Amino acid sequence: MKNTVQTILSQKQRGEKITMLTAYDYSTAKLVDESGVNSILVGDSLGMVMLGYENTLSVTMEDMLHHTRAVSRGVKNAFLIADMPFMSYETDPKTALENAGRLIKEGGANAVKLEGGCEVCPQIKAICAASIPVCAHIGMTPQSVNAFGGFKVQGRSEETARKIIDDAKAVEEAGACMVVLECVPRELAAVITQQLSIPTIGIGAGADCDGQVLVYQDMLGMFSDFVPKFAKQYRRVGDIMKEAFGEYINEVRAGQFPAENNSYKLDEKILERIMLR
Ligand code: KIV
Repeated sequence: MKNTVQTILSQKQRGEKITMLTAYDYSTAKLVDESGVNSILVGDSLGMVMLGYENTLSVTMEDMLHHTRAVSRGVKNAFLIADMPFMSYETDPKTALENAGRLIKEGGANAVKLEGGCEVCPQIKAICAASIPVCAHIGMTPQSVNAFGGFKVQGRSEETARKIIDDAKAVEEAGACMVVLECVPRELAAVITQQLSIPTIGIGAGADCDGQVLVYQDMLGMFSDFVPKFAKQYRRVGDIMKEAFGEYINEVRAGQFPAENNSYKLDEKILERIMLR
């Protein structure tokens, strides 16, 4: 069954946890979707895990459209959210709406996600007014890495915790249908989750959020540049891949691959005739 804004909101109301994972390409999106996850995020984290950038700031609208299109072709049931990249929405609500519209119309997403609290509420209102669901993202917002001075936990002081609570209430008031809380103390995430009617989706925000999101390379042990404390490695798929690549290399070198059953046969008579010439 297709997950929608309504089915995800009703999960919060029933106290049923919401699951979200990232995907950036068709094959992975199909696997993630078939696993029964509620929502798939085409995160701008693709800049780091797929494109090898140091942070997410270089990701463009064209990058996001390219990957969102691929993912949308592989998704049947999950609610598909596409990230708005850095500088695609900050300047003004009109630009934000135009770019959000492209991710829906050209990318095939069901909703968009953007980073920020009170300061991006005019953008959230403009996008929601065009019937495009918006997922907000507050706390440690990776696009603000330069302002934060690194990927650091946010909301540990009273002042910053209060600011994050205000941001959460403001994005709900502006019309966001859910909010990602990234790298904030679990107690703060619990307070916000209790005070909002829209679902909170945590990443490094503890178990009391209404749902959880992980970058799939982090949970599968496929990205070794940086392993965040909050990411549990459910499998070490990176090791399995390297093992398989190594086996292939050895078999090719030893003439064991391709075997007979991996090869195509030519009719013997045709073979004889071409050998005679
Ligand atoms: O870009 C991303 O993958 C994200 C998640 C980490 C929430 O924003």
